[in-house]
Amino acid sequence: MKIAVVGTGYVGLVTGTCLAETGNEVICVDINEEKVKAMQNGVLPIYEPGLEQLFHRNIKQERLHFTKDLAEAIKEAQVIFLALPTPPGGDGSADLSFVLGAAKDIAKLITDYKVIVTKSTVPVGTADKVTAVFKENTSVEFAVVSNPEFLREGVAVEDFMKPDRVVIGTTDVRARDILGELYGPYVRQGNPILFMDERSSELTKYAANSFLATKITFMNEVANMCELVGANVDMVRAGIGADARIGKRFLFPGVGYGGSCFPKDVQAMAKSAKEYGYDFKILDSVMDVNETQKKKLVKKVLEYFKDGIEGKKFAIWGLAFKPETDDIREAPALYIIDELIKHGASVVAYDPEGMPNVQRLLGDKITYAPDRYAALDGADALLIVTEWSVFRTPDFNYVKEKLKNNVIFDGRNLYDLDKMTKAGFYYSSIGRKT
Ligand code: UGA
Repeated sequence: MKIAVVGTGYVGLVTGTCLAETGNEVICVDINEEKVKAMQNGVLPIYEPGLEQLFHRNIKQERLHFTKDLAEAIKEAQVIFLALPTPPGGDGSADLSFVLGAAKDIAKLITDYKVIVTKSTVPVGTADKVTAVFKENTSVEFAVVSNPEFLREGVAVEDFMKPDRVVIGTTDVRARDILGELYGPYVRQGNPILFMDERSSELTKYAANSFLATKITFMNEVANMCELVGANVDMVRAGIGADARIGKRFLFPGVGYGGSCFPKDVQAMAKSAKEYGYDFKILDSVMDVNETQKKKLVKKVLEYFKDGIEGKKFAIWGLAFKPETDDIREAPALYIIDELIKHGASVVAYDPEGMPNVQRLLGDKITYAPDRYAALDGADALLIVTEWSVFRTPDFNYVKEKLKNNVIFDGRNLYDLDKMTKAGFYYSSIGRKT
């Protein structure tokens, strides 16, 4: 099938590359000329495990192309994916200007039936808005489909190639058949393609992310309670997760959820509910608790260093909002760094992939270490913020040699409590005894 993907951000690039992988001919279009040139020269602009190999293979086999020319991109495409940003506007609702702007441009260019697929996370009613834009600007036949993306950064290729489900929101029978055929190769293990109307599909995406953010937040609160009553959140997690109705996954407490999706989507869903006159109270609480949770590690630091932290130096392991990505959007580490600096401390950080992005944002406000151990040199304590595998089994004797004090604040519960006590550390984690 001939496909165009408009927008080569995270979702667009993964979508384009993975659609090419099953034999489709894909052309990705972006307004950023420099980025397009780089991709034409085989440079992948994001870090995502497994993507690079697919990206090169499909470029080489001439199934994956890049252009900045929208007309060229959509000319022969049967299906046009919109993978454009929907950043939070000033009032917290999703800003649709990129999506609607592209819809207008595309509408003016099409000459035959096209299936326009919204991949971006968009509020309920967006398919209707996109449809209205097309109707105003063309008399050619088209169908607008909501097809939300559920991939996670870090495992995006796997999530795209073997999705738990594919959601296709359309009432257009022709579009339904085309997309059913397109996604067939990805659900060969029997996972469902769920066909539904546009609004249900749009809401499914927000409900999924908001539910997951709520699940994490619930566990963060359970962890806080564990600390107060002297329980261990690892035990409680195992105890509740064994119930299939609750499930084992997404029950890990930490330093609050971050990333480009959960914070934005929870906020947008709450906002959208309010617009319909409904007060979605649980989402307000989720946002509120998450803000507090981001302060949790610094609170522990300030409780430990009773005389304040002015002039102290802290090592931070992990800057990206989660492992296996260089993405630092809404990363808890940024918040933690900000708080430490505000209290007069200095920070030396190490992250396997996230440092260039933080350097662009913070410059020399902090120091960047060449490896995990170098970050520890003379630091008053180590703070673990992202659970990269490389942090899981350090040489603790060497860690002690490097640190000024044997103090670790672990926002991701990476280590065994007894082992840490035996190794002679003051070890403070989330929802477990110190
Ligand atoms: C999330 C969803 O998981 C995807 O299904 C969705 O497609 C994506 O948003 C999106 O809307 O594009 P992502 O933001 O890549 O994916 O990351 P997650 O792995 O879901 O993690 C989100 C945040 O939750 C991270 O800050 C992570 O550290 C935190 N988290 C996750 C926890 O604190 N505890 C957990 O048990 C799981």
